[in-house]
Amino acid sequence: MAKTSKGKGPGKAGGCDRHHGEGPFELDLPARPRRLRSGPLLRGMVRETHLDPAAFIYPMFLCEGKRVRREVGSMPGIFRQSIDMGLKEMEEAAALGVPAVLLFGIPNRKDPLGSGAYAADGIVQRAVRAAKKAFGKDLLVVTDVCLCEYTDHGHCAPVGPDGVILNDEGVALHCSTALSHAEAGADMVAPSDMMDGRVGAIREVLDACGHSAVPIMAYSAKYASAYYGPFREAADSAPQFGDRKSYQMDPANGDEALREVELDLEEGADIVMVKPALAYLDVIRRVKEISPVPVAAYNVSGEYSLIKAAARMGWVDHDRIVLETLTGIARAGADILITYHAKEAAALLRKG
Ligand code: PBG
Ligand code: ZN
Repeated sequence: MAKTSKGKGPGKAGGCDRHHGEGPFELDLPARPRRLRSGPLLRGMVRETHLDPAAFIYPMFLCEGKRVRREVGSMPGIFRQSIDMGLKEMEEAAALGVPAVLLFGIPNRKDPLGSGAYAADGIVQRAVRAAKKAFGKDLLVVTDVCLCEYTDHGHCAPVGPDGVILNDEGVALHCSTALSHAEAGADMVAPSDMMDGRVGAIREVLDACGHSAVPIMAYSAKYASAYYGPFREAADSAPQFGDRKSYQMDPANGDEALREVELDLEEGADIVMVKPALAYLDVIRRVKEISPVPVAAYNVSGEYSLIKAAARMGWVDHDRIVLETLTGIARAGADILITYHAKEAAALLRKG
């Protein structure tokens, strides 16, 4: 601490043993952390967190049709697009050094059991085949495994007559979905439904059907979050009644996230995920501390939209805030970043 006499500023007249009214106070500072911030090279040398596009996953929304590319109103720069247009964007992502995409499908028809999710010729299954054919090992194709984009009621599992969400029936359909993705050639499947026991069940089915090499990235600690609002517009997946609070986690809970992660690890998850990211940085950190497998964080739609909106208003510096945000998520402990900013962040990092 600076030793100064109380109430007397530098240079002010007055007297004590260290200051006699002439010149500044003589300070005896025990530490000067600013020494390591004096220039960009030194700052670079001591930087603790480095964003690497090699750890980015870019989520994409695919719909039926040809030459369709419609911007999502609440997510500037993000499109609902047909497979042909999606392939062009995948190529762009790969060229920027983004190694992976996470595919969501928007089917033309929905039904109570979400049959489009596990149809052999469903939108995601066709997109996976097309992407693997086009890019082979140059792009990792990850698929979101869930029913909510495909069910007419918009829930992530079938609904009983009393409006109850049916866990085990849901798990069975998620197994079919994951298997159909693997059969189409998916490099990794990511169950996002939050039904109990789905990771183990999917692992068993994949293994039994010759897909033991396909990893599972589990949405392990997925919260019932208002930050998914723009996604539900993009994917047309808002629940038609009620909410997702009986399966997604209560935002108030941190300990429970660790329990969910432990269960998914026991069931064979290869990667565990925390979602959303920004309001849950503490959860990311706690999961990182206990997880023997890589930790992913999903920087979700609402987090993206908030930045885009404020940047459009001219209230924040877009590029800086994007990199600062992703750096924060990485510093919290995320090894893998799932983000709609993936392409632009990779471009910014390349620019330096
Ligand atoms: C499907 C799913 C959702 C997201 C990823 N997978 C929506 C939801 O659970 O309502 C959210 C992604 C985002 O907001 O970017 N279950
Ligand atoms: Zn869902």
